[in-house]
Amino acid sequence: MIRRPTAESIAVAVDILGNGGLVAVPTETVYGLAADATNREAVRRIFAVKDRPMGHPLIVHLGRSAQLDRWCSDVPDDARTLVDAFWPGPLTMIMPSNGKVAPEVTGGRTTVGLRMPDHPVTLDLLDAFGGAVAAPSANRFGKVSPTTAAHVERDLDGDVDLILDGGPCRIGVESTIVELGGPIPQILRLGAVTAEQIAGVLGREVLAEPVGPARASGMLDSHYAPACAVHVVEDRDEAMALVAQLWNRGEGPVDLLDPEATGDEWAHELYGWLREADERRLRSLVVVPPSADGVGAAVRDRLAKAAAPRS
Ligand code: TXA
Ligand code: MG
Repeated sequence: MIRRPTAESIAVAVDILGNGGLVAVPTETVYGLAADATNREAVRRIFAVKDRPMGHPLIVHLGRSAQLDRWCSDVPDDARTLVDAFWPGPLTMIMPSNGKVAPEVTGGRTTVGLRMPDHPVTLDLLDAFGGAVAAPSANRFGKVSPTTAAHVERDLDGDVDLILDGGPCRIGVESTIVELGGPIPQILRLGAVTAEQIAGVLGREVLAEPVGPARASGMLDSHYAPACAVHVVEDRDEAMALVAQLWNRGEGPVDLLDPEATGDEWAHELYGWLREADERRLRSLVVVPPSADGVGAAVRDRLAKAAAPRS
């Protein structure tokens, strides 16, 4: 059920979280499916509702940056620097866990992902709740993330106790994930905070590409995928030729997604556009992606994963 955020609905949400329920919450990136991060049963319910394999850990959301020390055994200096620069905001840091979150949250890892979201409704909720919430994106595993309350309702209605409507998400793609604690900070998922910005603030090298064994679902090949087939083509003429070819091959209905839009606009609209393609029952969508500047790199990354072969 969707509720407008008021003092009353936020109090209801706090109650639900305290009783081990699930609340869909707005953030500046995408909507999250939140549960008390210390409640094992509640956290298990997140995995069940999302159909998410247990090995994929959840991001823990904090209401205040000073709460870092509550969940982390040893806060790296880099983390404090990044918090000052980017929190509240679309940056998740992977850090040593002190074991106080439910083990399901970290999937048995020794690390925990922490972020402070930049949305007044969810910050109010976290403040009133007092604890931290584990919150993956509020969609089924592998599918397109929700950027409005209506998206959440379409995907999860009935499986979530309350949806707080905080309006459309300002950024529209998931947070940047950076792994700290190794010799060189490493980006595990691209987002609105860029590798260059992180390197600039830290004054040292940052690995801008995820490498090594996959340890974030953003590192899976196929993810963020609508029902229709997605084809990414760099050049507009080539894209139009492919549209014609797909029609001829019987892979229609087909449409071309090639908006006049900045990287920020692309990020804001991307998941809505992919959802719309499914609502229109397209079989194929041919996309000319934005340039890789700023959040454009994250948009390109999500499109590549939406276009990847599915198992
Ligand atoms: O913007 C966001 O980050 C949104 C909003 C709701 O905050 N949340 C989000 O959650 O995108 P989710 O579950 O869809 O993606 C979380 C990612 C996963 O790829 C997971 O593997 C990674 O974070 N992650 C969480 N904890 C981790 C850990 N300890 N080590 C490595 N990766 C971790
Ligand atoms: Mg997700």
